[in-house]
This record gives sequence, C-alpha cells and structure tokens, in this order.
Amino acid sequence: MSPGPGEPGPVGSVTGVNASEIRQAYLDFYATRGHAVIGRANLVPREDPTTLFTGSGMQPLIPYLLGAPHPAGNRLVDSQVCFRAEDIDEVGDARHTTLFEMLGNWSLGSYFKSEQLPWVFEFLTAVVGLDPSRLYASVFGGAPGWGIPADEEAEQLWIGLFSGAGVEPTVLDAGSKQRAAAMGIGDARIVRYDESQCWWSRSGPPDTMPPGEPGGPDSEVFYLFPQVRHDPAFGVHCHPHCDCGRFVEIGNSVFMQYLKTGSGFELLPQRNVDFGGGLERIAMAAADSPDAFAVDLLAPLMAEIDAMRPARAHDGNRGAHGGGARADDRAKRVIADHTRAVVFLAFDGVEPSNNTQGYVMRRFARRAMRQGLYLGIESDLLAALSDVVVSIYRDAYPELGERASELRGVLEREEALFRKTLARGVRELPRLAEGRLTGEAVFKLFDTFGFPPELSLEEAASTGVPVDPAWEPSFQGLMDEQRQRSRTAAAGMFKGGLADHSVSTTQLHTATHLLYKALRLVLGDHVVQRGSNITPERLRLDFSHPAKMTPEELEKVQQIVNDAIAQNWPMQVKEMTPEQAFGSGALGAFGDRYGPTVTVYTAGDPEGDWYSKEICGGPHVTRTGELGRFRIVKEESSSAGVRRIRAVLE
Ligand code: SER
Repeated sequence: MSPGPGEPGPVGSVTGVNASEIRQAYLDFYATRGHAVIGRANLVPREDPTTLFTGSGMQPLIPYLLGAPHPAGNRLVDSQVCFRAEDIDEVGDARHTTLFEMLGNWSLGSYFKSEQLPWVFEFLTAVVGLDPSRLYASVFGGAPGWGIPADEEAEQLWIGLFSGAGVEPTVLDAGSKQRAAAMGIGDARIVRYDESQCWWSRSGPPDTMPPGEPGGPDSEVFYLFPQVRHDPAFGVHCHPHCDCGRFVEIGNSVFMQYLKTGSGFELLPQRNVDFGGGLERIAMAAADSPDAFAVDLLAPLMAEIDAMRPARAHDGNRGAHGGGARADDRAKRVIADHTRAVVFLAFDGVEPSNNTQGYVMRRFARRAMRQGLYLGIESDLLAALSDVVVSIYRDAYPELGERASELRGVLEREEALFRKTLARGVRELPRLAEGRLTGEAVFKLFDTFGFPPELSLEEAASTGVPVDPAWEPSFQGLMDEQRQRSRTAAAGMFKGGLADHSVSTTQLHTATHLLYKALRLVLGDHVVQRGSNITPERLRLDFSHPAKMTPEELEKVQQIVNDAIAQNWPMQVKEMTPEQAFGSGALGAFGDRYGPTVTVYTAGDPEGDWYSKEICGGPHVTRTGELGRFRIVKEESSSAGVRRIRAVLE
C-alpha cells in the first residue's frame, strides 16, 4: 500500500543511515578540496542585532561575503546548527524541523559555478550514494525587471552532469511556482524558476532586500520520493518546489555576487559561493525515507517519547485524547523537534525568560510539554529527552556531553515552573468552581494562574466537577471585556492608514490583517505589506508580489479570509517588547521605528494556533465574526513588484 499524501507511514522507525557519517564525509570531501573546516557559530548571533537566531550557515559569514578577508582563507566548510523559530507552525509533518544542521561550503572570491556544481553532484552521488535519477535541479530563469540575466552557465553545467550520469537532461522554463503547479513538469530534470524561488538573500527575493544586503541567483538540488503521493492541496501538479513532500530540497548553491543598492543592484567586489545542505534531509535521501523523524538524529527521541507514554494510551491507534495515530505522530514530532531546539539553545547560553531569545525558548519548552500532556506524559519530559539529545550529538559536539547535567538542570527547572503553574490551577479549580465549573472560574484560572482553558475542562472531567454548559460564552465575554480594557490604552496611538475610527473602518482594518495573512498563505512569505489605506467604504492593501494574481489565487485568498471570519476568533491584544513580538512571529511594517513596547494584535484560537499576528496600533473589532462577507473587488499593479488589492465587506 502506498502511503497517503505527505505521510510516509509509521514514524520513528530508524533508517539505518548514520547522519554523523554523512556530516564527517562532507567536511572531509571539501577539506581535500582546499577548504578550511571552521567551527559552528553560536545560535545567538553575537554581532548581528537584526536577527534573534542564527538561521543559516552564511549568516555569521556576511562580512566575508562582502569582501573582508577571513582568517581561515577563502575556502571554508562547516556544519552549522541553525534555528528557524518562524517555522514553528510547520512542525508536525514528516519533514519540517525548527532546528537543523546545515552543511555549508563557501568560496569567498575563490572558485565559482564550474567547480561548485560538479562537486555538489559528486558528493551526493559518489559519496552519499544517491541515485542520480532521483535528483532534480533548479536554475535561475532571470529577473529582467532588475536587469539580472538567467543563469545559463548553471543550466549548462547541470545538463552536462546529468548526461554524464546517463539521465536525460530535459529543461523546463517554469517561471513561477504557481505556473509550475499549473502545468506540471513532464519529464523535465532541470527547472528554471524566477526570482521568487531561485534567488537567495537573508530577507528573500530582490524586492524585499534592504540596501546593503548581499544576494544572488541560486541553484537547488531536490530528491524525489516517488513513494509519497502528490497532495493536490498544494497545486494541481507536483514540481520540485511543491510543498507536498514528494520533492525535498537537499541542497542549495547560492551564487552570491550582487549587492542591493538604493535603486537596484551592483556587483560585489568578489564572486562568492554559499552552499547550504540540510543534513537531516540528505540523510533522508540516503535512506530513501521521506520521514525526517526516522533519521538517527531524531528517531531516538521519538522512541523515548513512545517509551514514556502511559501503557494504556500507547496502543498505536488510540491516543490518550482519542485524536488517533496521526495526531499522536504530530504531537511526538513537535515534542522531539522542540526539545532538541531547547537543548541546543541552552547549550548556546540561552535561559528561559520573558525576553527575546529566552521568551522563544520558553514558548518552545511549554509547547512541547503541552503536547506531552496530550499524549498522557505528565512529568519528567524535558530532562529525560535532554539526555537523549546529548547522547545523539555528544560525538559531534563533545562539549555537549561535558555540560549534560547543566543542560538537564535548565530544562528541569523550566519544567518544574510550568508544572507548578499547572498544579496551582488544579489546586485552585475546586475552590473557584464551587461545585460547578463556570466561565468565570475558567477565566480566573486562566487570567490569574495562567491555567489553559482546555486543561480546566479536562481537570473538571477527571475530578467529577460538573461543567456549566454555558461556560464558553461567559468565558469569551470576560476575555473580551479584558481585551477592551487593554485596548482603550492602546487605541489612538497610531493612525495606521485609517481614514477614521468608525465601525466600518475598524472592521475593514481587521479584514486587512486577515487578508495579509491569507496572501502569505496562498502566495508565499515573500509577500510583505507595502502600504494600506482604509476608508469606511473599502480597504486597499499594497504588497510585494512579482506577478499578477490568477483568478484561482484570488478565489483562494477570499475563501481563506471568509473562513477566518466564520471562525469568529477573538482579536487579542497584548503589549510586549518588539523583540518578544518578532520572536513570537508577529509581522511588523519593515523599517518602522518601535518604542520599548509595541501592541500586537492576534487573530486565532486563543489556546490553539494563531492565524495572524501583527504589530499594530489598532483599533480592531473584538471578534472576526463581526466582519460579514469579505469580497475582493480588484487586483492590479501598484508599482514594480508591488500589487494592490481593493476589497469590501458586505
Ligand atoms: N544561504 C543558503 C540557504 O540558507 C545556502 O546556504 O539556503
């Protein structure tokens, strides 16, 4: 039986491929080609205040890519532990993780494409042993608007490499991801994409790059897992950049030779190569397993989580919560991913707190523990898993072994704190409930003790306390009132492109937030708000996107916004530091200046996942259900690379 879309089957069965051997083989391969092996950088960038975490191997090397001489020379290789907190919502499927190791090699003005691409191919096929007929390559198809030509050299190199390996090197000019999904790739082996896919900089495609940022065309290698069926939710046809999991990107060579200026691009003083390859993903390909959690860097964590589950809840098909095997797998993956990330953050000196990196770390730890409760694991989760993380990585990072008990302590303390919050809620619940759990009691437990509402319900059920059937509306009412109170303080701080603060302008303002998120979901994260203007009659949103939107895309966006309205989510408002806001995934207008605190509006399930989160001065409606029906009236060009949508509420 072939597995379902994006689902490789049972998780946690170890593949037999040793990822540590792949790491070492990669370092050796490039060392014998004149590269100095450099140590990994700390997960907290020391010199770079623009970002909370090291999210790619090139980040610590920016000054050298811009031309400063590196003390170890102009050919470097490493394995960099990376953390991308912004990917938190993707975790749970078979291949996304927030922490990963990126194998990287760099040419700082030394070699270029004609060395790099053959080496990548040789490493993957001859050293790792991947079947060349499972590999696909992408090349940059050009960005005429920026005066940057297509990468014909990379294309010719790939044609030669595939032919040499006996694989027909058919080329397809796909342009955008949307176009590739619409037409399919047929028997193409090398796919040209535009700058929305085949361009790399820290901030994304050319139009999102601030002046002074380096970037360039890239060429990715993908591995095909034919055993994964294409999921049409991601587009009609599958293609290398499809997100269904059939193709997995295992490496990316960036030809970093451009610098963004105020008006366009200029050439950097040197032509650089920046290669990044996900170690877990290469190991998945080596094992021909579409499950990252079966790789030996994660599988022992999955096994330990299984071993920790109470016997009754652990029969494969029926979790403690009745959510089924698939929901259990998601929970296990979240725990494995988040705990591994938290251990490495502790390793790099982060302590859980309510600020910046510490805040993100705390959020990850608590999310892992919440998922643990879901699986029936009520104690000793983080510390036990911390030992497993150490045992997986101690050979590659000996200091991890030396500091094992210190790291265990950090996690133990954080777990104790969270359990105390929970215990206090459990203790207070009978007193506050007075024989019956009302919405008011649920609110008090949440507001005063941080005790999540669904745990109140579970606790009441397990201790035989009856629950007021009308608890939810009364709980929501109290939450709304509290939000209203904090909102009064926040309102009027910014005008935010609003013509006035009338009811219909306020409704359209909330609709603008829902729209912005829907655009990012449908078109991708390159969509950045460029401006907005809202009157009582209509909203107008300008955003970066290289192409005219198709009728299907517009229909999808409209549907997502209307679904968000139908959910009747609260618009929660919170004051926090800008670091906390960005650390928790909030979007803010790029380039804005922020004071010591900002106001963040979040639409979504207050105890589940949020949908949209933005730094914003308000005002907003209390719940998304107040908006009525959302309709897009027009989509047009606003300026180069910027689209404009007008929409109304009916
Ligand atoms: N900087 C590129 C990436 O992160 C390649 O290392 O994908």
